Amino acid sequence: MNAIAAGPRMPTTAAVPAYLNETYWWAYVHPNAVRLFERQWLVNLILWGNFARLRDAALRELGDELPGRTLQVACVYGDFTPRLADRVAKGGGTLDVVDVLSVQLANLRRKLDERAPVSLVQRDAADLGFADASYQRVVLFFLLHEVPEDVRRRTLAEALRVLEPGGRLVIVDYHRPVAWHPLRAVMTFILRNFEPFALDLWRHEVRAWLPASAAVARKRTFWGALYQLLVVHR
Ligand SMILES: C[S@@+](CC[C@H](N)C(=O)[O-])C[C@H]1O[C@@H](n2cnc3c(N)ncnc32)[C@H](O)[C@@H]1O
Repeated sequence: MNAIAAGPRMPTTAAVPAYLNETYWWAYVHPNAVRLFERQWLVNLILWGNFARLRDAALRELGDELPGRTLQVACVYGDFTPRLADRVAKGGGTLDVVDVLSVQLANLRRKLDERAPVSLVQRDAADLGFADASYQRVVLFFLLHEVPEDVRRRTLAEALRVLEPGGRLVIVDYHRPVAWHPLRAVMTFILRNFEPFALDLWRHEVRAWLPASAAVARKRTFWGALYQLLVVHR
């Protein structure tokens, strides 16, 4: 496993997908982007003040104390992972965080307590390489809207493949807002111009990209349905 734990950085194993370099260099790839966006108030502003609400809803679904193995697929700006790591530490479990960009993993390492039971792993979400049924819970926080459809489908299949039977996949992401949503036009403009794959989540339910065997156990929407939370079982 290529983990950035306490020791030296290991060589990377997954290639950076073209869409990240082409579409998201300004948000995730360039070191200046990481410096700019790694601000709690800014990620909260990008989510129109909903960051804490969505973070806490996801954490509640995962549980207060998290024994066993937890997987977070893709880094998140702000304090999502430190808070998740606290719950994992309380439960005596371990947390693996996967991201395809080493710059993101290095940024996350700086946000974590050095005793946190967290391993950072440079992998592609669409090809995790972990054993089947090796995690009790998996979380995808605002990843699905950022990836092209084929990557989204493979990411969901991988998240469910590594989940134990009876485990839960928690997803938080964009959703089609209600017709009267005051920010509908603004969000259409922003997503169309800056996040070209995101409007897929307005057109389709996440179920459209799940393997046939998966079951959506719960769906909640937030803030005029601009955001959604799903709990999925394999
Ligand atoms: C979770 S998403 C967006 C999170 C949210 N917008 C935030 O506040 O940070 C961002 C992360 O996804 C990662 N990512 C994108 N495509 C990926 C892939 N195929 N495999 C692994 N990580 C990926 C990016 O490198 C980035 O760190």
